[in-house]
Amino acid sequence: MRIVLAPMEGLADVHLRRLITAQGGFDWVVSEFLRVVDRLYPRSVFYKLCPELLQQGRTESGVPVRVQLLGSDPEAMAANAVRAVELGSYGVDINFGCPSRTVNRRQGGAVMLKEPESLYRVVRAVREAVPGDVVVSAKMRLGYADTSLMLDNASAVESAGATELTVHARTRLQGYAPPAHWEALGEIRRHLRIPLIANGDICSVADYHRCVEIAGTPDVMLGRGAVRWPFLAQQIRVNHADASQWARIIPLLQHFWTEINARHLHKDRVGRMKQWINYLRQSHPEAEALWRLVREEKSVAGLDALLAENMR
Ligand SMILES: Cc1cc2nc3c(=O)[nH]c(=O)nc-3n(C[C@H](O)[C@H](O)[C@H](O)COP(=O)(O)O)c2cc1C
Repeated sequence: MRIVLAPMEGLADVHLRRLITAQGGFDWVVSEFLRVVDRLYPRSVFYKLCPELLQQGRTESGVPVRVQLLGSDPEAMAANAVRAVELGSYGVDINFGCPSRTVNRRQGGAVMLKEPESLYRVVRAVREAVPGDVVVSAKMRLGYADTSLMLDNASAVESAGATELTVHARTRLQGYAPPAHWEALGEIRRHLRIPLIANGDICSVADYHRCVEIAGTPDVMLGRGAVRWPFLAQQIRVNHADASQWARIIPLLQHFWTEINARHLHKDRVGRMKQWINYLRQSHPEAEALWRLVREEKSVAGLDALLAENMR
């Protein structure tokens, strides 16, 4: 069983990665993506995206972090992959799943799923550029508009030399709308020799078991489920589902707020805090009540007072 914390741009930043991995259960984390166009980024860009590179490529609880690159230019992707690895990234992950229109217009992310050959070229170039013992993984969706090229895309990634493949069980057009199509993952699993990491809507221990049964792989990537319940990976590992308890979330929220204030890394600290509360309200009624109180608040001092008053 391998459990990976998903890359989530603008959400799972260094702070949330630290906090979620500190609850245990994760084998590694994938960073937010670095969009590669045609140049090699300076080291400072990598450190900003993934400050864990300054601490041996690990979160404070020791979980390795893998830099994710997004782009379609094989040479530029290869050059940036080499730099990521030199700086201490735990392998390199390549994003073939991003649904953003801006990214897709520039031939990066999920639009590449229309042309398996383009996946092959990028993975191959990265594989050849980094040392042989470095993990090169890819993350894709089931397809762009439909799943007709799903197996071709998976084969392209495998034959180009990727070490593992994560699949978010939706097409680009399906966006993030439920359900995730775990049965398609089963088809990909049977088609591949490299490990398949299943992803999409695994939000509880019961979901994990259902997904494993349907997709036929014990390896999973957790995204929003871990944001809403940071203890999820550990509970999957010990196969024990505690009822979600708001009382266990409160210290994490308090810690997060203190941290983003202390480090001043976020221009919009209030927005970041509200963003997490917004995610939490989908599984905790108490977060819904808190959300109603804080959603209009724009100042740090105002939010601070509201949190102090309402998170006890
Ligand atoms: C806010 C947000 C940002 C995301 N950013 C990325 C990203 O940078 N790279 C990537 O490969 N996937 C990204 N994803 C997709 C997730 O990694 C994951 O595939 C998706 O959320 C489904 O898994 P889940 O249901 O466990 O959240 C993002 C998802 C969300 C919600």
